[in-house]
Order: sequence, then structure tokens, then C-alpha cells
Amino acid sequence: AVKRTPFIAGNWKMNLDHLQSIAFVQKLAWSLADARHDFADAEVAVFPPCTDLRSVQTLVAADSLPIGYGAQDLSAYDSGAYTGEISGAFLSQLGCGYVIIGHSERRTLHGETDADVNAKIKAAHRHGLVPVVCVGETAENLEAHGPSAVPVAQLRAALEGIDGSKGLVVAYEPVWAIGSGQAATPAQAEQVAVALRGLLAELVGDEVAQATRVLYGGSVKAANIASFLREPNVDGALVGGASLDIDEFSSIIRFKK
Ligand code: G3P
Repeated sequence: AVKRTPFIAGNWKMNLDHLQSIAFVQKLAWSLADARHDFADAEVAVFPPCTDLRSVQTLVAADSLPIGYGAQDLSAYDSGAYTGEISGAFLSQLGCGYVIIGHSERRTLHGETDADVNAKIKAAHRHGLVPVVCVGETAENLEAHGPSAVPVAQLRAALEGIDGSKGLVVAYEPVWAIGSGQAATPAQAEQVAVALRGLLAELVGDEVAQATRVLYGGSVKAANIASFLREPNVDGALVGGASLDIDEFSSIIRFKK
């Protein structure tokens, strides 16, 4: 079986300003240096608000910190008359490796469609960014269609015409588990991760499917991270609330399977 490096990502959402982000990344660097003694094999990334990215870049670059980072969204367009938008080119100039695309909050609160998500993934790829593509069902979807149908349909639409060799991370975030304190069970997360990886194999080939990290997100915390990572097809977590607290996030990155 292919070995996939676990990926622990903190989605800060609209939290932590410029100064707070500097303090957080400094503490995270200390914590990682320490954690490497017992656990050397996870990739850690943060997704701050765009206004923090320059500061994070400066810190990470100055000491070559082993911390990845990216934005929480990007424009589907590369430049031009798109007031308020931020292009993939700008993000890549800020050293971002990743960008979150299609988070349920953007789908719900900003009307992002599967077609928008698809266009944004293509934009990310044009600028050398690895998209972290979020999919997930609402409680009503779950009731009506069962666990995998909606996430699988979202991923199928998201990946239309995508070149899988350009890199991809998939995050399964059931909407009912986000910020609710009620995480999916590890078995539920595994079941959907298996379905998503099966779809990846169909769309981008088995080799890319085996290499692609599928994350779980939704009320992940220090107390449950290991239970998710024990599942063979769950390769990490997209952490919201618990990624804002340096002590909690430090415990998460020290997970022991
Ligand atoms: O993108 C991560 C997020 O939606 C999960 O949030 O607060 O439930 O960890 P939270």
C-alpha cells in the first residue's frame, strides 16, 4: 500500500488578526520542534485570513519553519475587474502551498456552486497551488441519501476536467459535524473516505487516488484525532475551532495512533 503522510490543517476561518497570527505561528514552531522528538511524520499547515498571509510567510521563510500555509479561498479568475477578489497568482507570490476550496461555509453563505468550485480548482492549479477541496453533506442530505452520495456527487462535479497530477487534497466535512461538537464517528469518516478515493480512482486514475490525502473535518480535537487517523483511508484532519487554541492544536499534531 502507498504511504500517505498525515496532513493536519488548521482552518482559522475569520479569526486571529495579523499580530495574533504571528504569535500563533511562533508558538506552533516551538511546539513542532518539540513534537518532532516523538512524532516526525505529519505535515502541518495553517489557513489564516488573507490579511495574515504576508506575516506568516515572513516567519516561515525566515527560519525555514516546517509549517505549510494557504488561503481559505481564491478567485476563479487570474486578474482584472473583480473587486474584493484575491487571485491564485497573489497567493503563490505569498508562498502559499495550498488553498481551501468549496468549504461548506462558502457554499452556504456565499452561494458557491459545484461549477465555481471546479473553476477555482483549475485556477489553483494554474498557479501551482494544491487545492484542499471540501465536500460534505447536510443532516437532511444524510437522512435522504445516506452517507456518501452527496460528497461523492460534489467531488465528481468539482473534479471535472482536472489534471490530477497537479496535486489535490480532499476534505470530507459533514456539515452537521462542523462546529457542532458532534464529530462523525471514525467509521463514518472511513466509509466516506473510501467512497471518495474510489471516485478519485475513476476520475484521475488509481495512482493519483492512492497518493491523494483524504482528510476528515468537523469537531476534530485532541481527544478524537487519533481515532480518525487510525482509519486506513483517513489521512489527516481539517480542524476549525480547535486550531485556534495553540495548546489544543499542539496536542492534535502530537497525535499517537
Ligand atoms: O474547515 C474546518 C471546519 O469546518 C471544521 O470546523 O470547528 O468543527 O473543527 P470545526
